[in-house]
Amino acid sequence: MKILEERIKQDGVVLPGNVLKVNQFLNHQIDPDLMLDIGKEFVNLFGKEKITKILTIESSGIAPAMMTGLLLHVPVLFGRKKKSSTMPGDVYCAHVYSYTKKIENTVTIESKFLNKNDRVLIIDDFLANGEAVSGMLEICQQAHAQVVGVGIAIEKSFQGGAKRIKDQGVHLESLAKIASFDNGQVQFVEESK
Ligand code: G4P
Ligand code: NA
Ligand code: NA
Repeated sequence: MKILEERIKQDGVVLPGNVLKVNQFLNHQIDPDLMLDIGKEFVNLFGKEKITKILTIESSGIAPAMMTGLLLHVPVLFGRKKKSSTMPGDVYCAHVYSYTKKIENTVTIESKFLNKNDRVLIIDDFLANGEAVSGMLEICQQAHAQVVGVGIAIEKSFQGGAKRIKDQGVHLESLAKIASFDNGQVQFVEESK
């Protein structure tokens, strides 16, 4: 997705440890027009799948997920990382280890919001090692919900996540694919549309 790649080149900052800081438009300040364009692209890619629900994890997945849900007129469900006092009932949960933060989060979803009739599109801002997406796939399995695909805004293709997800036969689409951060410069896998 050309405009996302251009925005990453313009505003992204490469930090030590192969981390891309995109606080200008995604992870802190959010550009709603860009998020809407991202949502439109996910609708182009997955819109024919009779999606009933968008699934993401708080917090940074919510913005692109929300726009996709808005365009498809389906609910947006986000996994919570902290135990909620208003969520005492039946929950699905998955353990998601964050390599960047070196912590394990227990991601929970109230079971009444996901069931076997759901056709789920998983959305997230970043795909690195694939821990977060794997956790969401696990939660969908617990719910017997069908996953129609995974839509990622920024994939770090040099990490193992994309392969890990595709190897499970899941339809994965990433809008910007980063090949490397050599010399502090963002190199994309291919120049796209
Ligand atoms: P993984 O889920 O693909 O295995 O990723 P990893 O554990 O490495 O990443 C943990 C968190 O860091 C996730 O957000 C993920 O979206 C984010 N992340 C991974 N690589 C990058 C990067 O290069 N740049 C930025 N900005 N984020 C990255 P999170 O902890 O769930 O936090 P949030 O969604 O509340 O921001
Ligand atoms: Na995220
Ligand atoms: Na994040």
